[in-house]
Amino acid sequence: MINIIGAGLAGLSATMTLAERGIKCALISAQNSERAQSVLAEGGINAALDTMGEGDTTELHFEETMRGGVQLADPTAVRALTENAPEVVRRLASLGVPFNRNPDGSIMLRSFGGQKKKRTAFAQSSTGKMIMTSLIDEVRKYEARGLVTRYPHHTFVRLLTENGECTGVRVSDNYTGKMYDLHGTVITAGGGLNGFFPGITTGTVTNTGNITAVMFAQGVKLANLEMIQYHPTTIGIPGKRCLISEAARGEGGRLFSEKKGDELYFMEERYPELGNLMPRDVVSREMFFELRDGRDTFLDMTGIPADTWQNKLSDLRKEVMDYMILDPAEDPIPVEPGIHYFMGGIYTDPSHRTSMPGLFAAGECACIYHGANRLGGNSMLGAVFGGMTAAKSAAQNADKSAGADCSEFTGKDAFAVTHSAAFASETCRILSSGLGIVRNESGIKKALAEINALPCANDTETARKAVAQAMLYSALGRTESRGAHFREDFPETLVNFRQTTVSEYNGGTVCVTFNDIPERKTDDSNDRDTAAEKPYR
Ligand code: FUM
Repeated sequence: MINIIGAGLAGLSATMTLAERGIKCALISAQNSERAQSVLAEGGINAALDTMGEGDTTELHFEETMRGGVQLADPTAVRALTENAPEVVRRLASLGVPFNRNPDGSIMLRSFGGQKKKRTAFAQSSTGKMIMTSLIDEVRKYEARGLVTRYPHHTFVRLLTENGECTGVRVSDNYTGKMYDLHGTVITAGGGLNGFFPGITTGTVTNTGNITAVMFAQGVKLANLEMIQYHPTTIGIPGKRCLISEAARGEGGRLFSEKKGDELYFMEERYPELGNLMPRDVVSREMFFELRDGRDTFLDMTGIPADTWQNKLSDLRKEVMDYMILDPAEDPIPVEPGIHYFMGGIYTDPSHRTSMPGLFAAGECACIYHGANRLGGNSMLGAVFGGMTAAKSAAQNADKSAGADCSEFTGKDAFAVTHSAAFASETCRILSSGLGIVRNESGIKKALAEINALPCANDTETARKAVAQAMLYSALGRTESRGAHFREDFPETLVNFRQTTVSEYNGGTVCVTFNDIPERKTDDSNDRDTAAEKPYR
């Protein structure tokens, strides 16, 4: 039995991959798949399908993903991701995802940030919803055949471990409060850390981040926690930031800033080659500087042709009209950067193994493909391909886990008690003060002092505090600027910092070290170099 935590894109992809091979799995999620973060993904999924006659290649996709991530991702993993992307998207199309099509029937591609070729397959601007619908349907077939048992409305409590190895997972039924131990190999696809930033991310508010936090407290290593992506174009709505998809700029939307009637199309002015479609870290930083100079920032979509609105962005237009009472086809809309994605998370190798034997990770919770900055359109790709890869690796582990699949646990578990809303909001206030788009030593140290002094009411809060500390220590230790991590006191990108920040927790202390990344070789046959671990404090 293989237990999959999280029923979003990565979890469904892993489930489908295992069930296709006749391997039984349990699919555990606090919410139904229909409520997963993946449903909110808008703009598209990247693959060098080269259907637009531009001569795109998987090699260029690889190069641009590595460059977008400022060379911080493992090239072996990125190579596998980008080479398999066309097959992944064709598979999704065969499952019924209604991708927009060219007149010749091939999959249409749009421009997205950090990429010189059109490479992003899309279904209007509701691509995540459409892919999820197809995968939910596909997995239902396997549920009917008894290969997949769903545990919806079951919350992760902790990993079961024996001698440092993961042997299963404890879950709690949201309605009855009963706890169950599910035995076997575990794949976690529990999502990103947006629950650490309630109210100020585009992420779903139901994703608390507790799965990763508890795993950290149980000894699972995390990586690159300082790499937090701010999406350039978001708007404030009650309870969260609402994403205005990069697709708007891919289809011709333009950013400008304004002060006392003076308008500046700052991205086009400063970055003539990619302009509004520079990687997100660059765009968000430029917007930050405009805002700091007292200039308001806007997205001008008024030049987008009517048929593009109709055929490619009608749902985005409706979203803006509903939330802002403005028609983006008629008027520029005010936008600001907002927290959107976590490049960091569970330290994962190219096979999606974590530091704990028996535990695999995929999707946004895993730190693997995106380095210091993710390109738009690579997250759904990473989730689907990562789910498939984790499933294949976990399948090799599965026969070790014979025995009863599920038993009720009638004792008490400290991690069954969750954190309070006040704790989450205080952590958010502190973290966002130290980990903004532009950072410096005094801001990070001030945030660390506040986090260190934060009282915890239970073990879950202690686990969350440890993750928050690890984020801040990682940001403090990286005395350079790279991708989403911009230190105004260390603005250069330094070769000797082309290293992964690895965080470990021993129950009392958070320790952050730097691990080397394998050198890129033309044959890509090198293995991960684990030799160099250099403590910095
Ligand atoms: O802007 C967007 O549509 C977001 C896409 C992504 O994060 O991959």
